[in-house]
Amino acid sequence: MTIRFLYHSKDDPGPWAQAFRDADPELEMMVYPEMGDPAEIVAAFVWRAPHGLLASLPNLKLIHSKGAGVDHIFDDPKVPAGVPIARLVDPMAVAMMGHYAIYHALGYHRRMDVYRAQQAESVWRGLPPPDHERTTVAVLGLGAIGREVAGQFQRLGFRTLGWSRSAKTIDGVDCRHGADALFATLAESKIVVNVLALTRETENILNAQAFAHMPRGGFLINIARGPHIVEADLIQALDSGQLGGATLDVFRAEPLAKGHPFWTHPKVTVTPHMSGDPLPRTAALQVARNIRAALAGQPLLNEVDRRRGY
Ligand code: GLV
Repeated sequence: MTIRFLYHSKDDPGPWAQAFRDADPELEMMVYPEMGDPAEIVAAFVWRAPHGLLASLPNLKLIHSKGAGVDHIFDDPKVPAGVPIARLVDPMAVAMMGHYAIYHALGYHRRMDVYRAQQAESVWRGLPPPDHERTTVAVLGLGAIGREVAGQFQRLGFRTLGWSRSAKTIDGVDCRHGADALFATLAESKIVVNVLALTRETENILNAQAFAHMPRGGFLINIARGPHIVEADLIQALDSGQLGGATLDVFRAEPLAKGHPFWTHPKVTVTPHMSGDPLPRTAALQVARNIRAALAGQPLLNEVDRRRGY
């Protein structure tokens, strides 16, 4: 029996087609815009699909995000109401987001900006050693990604705080929750890593007030979504020295426009939304399992709560 599903993404479909063949040989991946008969498509594996595409598939049993975020699905006003939605929580992508945050946090913590500048002048000069046990990192958002990222920092020996909407517990991580606890958490945290889901409540959460609560010279890493940040406020906080630097992997408009001030800001590192790209080898296993589960009417992995928005 062949099970036909639609793939929509800008990424090369080749490795995905191979990974799906390995995961479940009965799956047949149709690469948008090649759809064949839309009535034969039972699942859609999508990243930023054109609005209305999902609604044009009459026998859809599953909408599977090609990312952990589903904001791109809810952006479509015609997303079919009765079809379950699943997020992709690829364990390799989640681990890589931790690696990414750690790479940039350590570069800041170990003052690599200073050493790079010194190298350019052939200067041999060490700075006093930084104390990671007395450096606090806050991870905002404690879902599957936040738990892993916080755990990685905690295992490196940083004092690690977590903040989320509802109460969570993670071994070795001091977890706080609720809007009232946000500023107090930021106030303790030299390094802040944002992995929140984007919802109406979290849009613009990283604004002038939030930056003003962080210790002076602090560092921000955003691997969640661009609209969490008020860009003008961030630039102001960097220019005033309130923040010492920022690493940004996500932006309000992607690709980041040529000429955007983030590209050339001396305190900003820009990467092209790559911190947690899913790996076909592991991600396809999860998606294949979910397609089978949806067809059998069984519970899905990482099913989205439409009311919550993630
Ligand atoms: C990427 O941004 C994702 O949602 O996984």
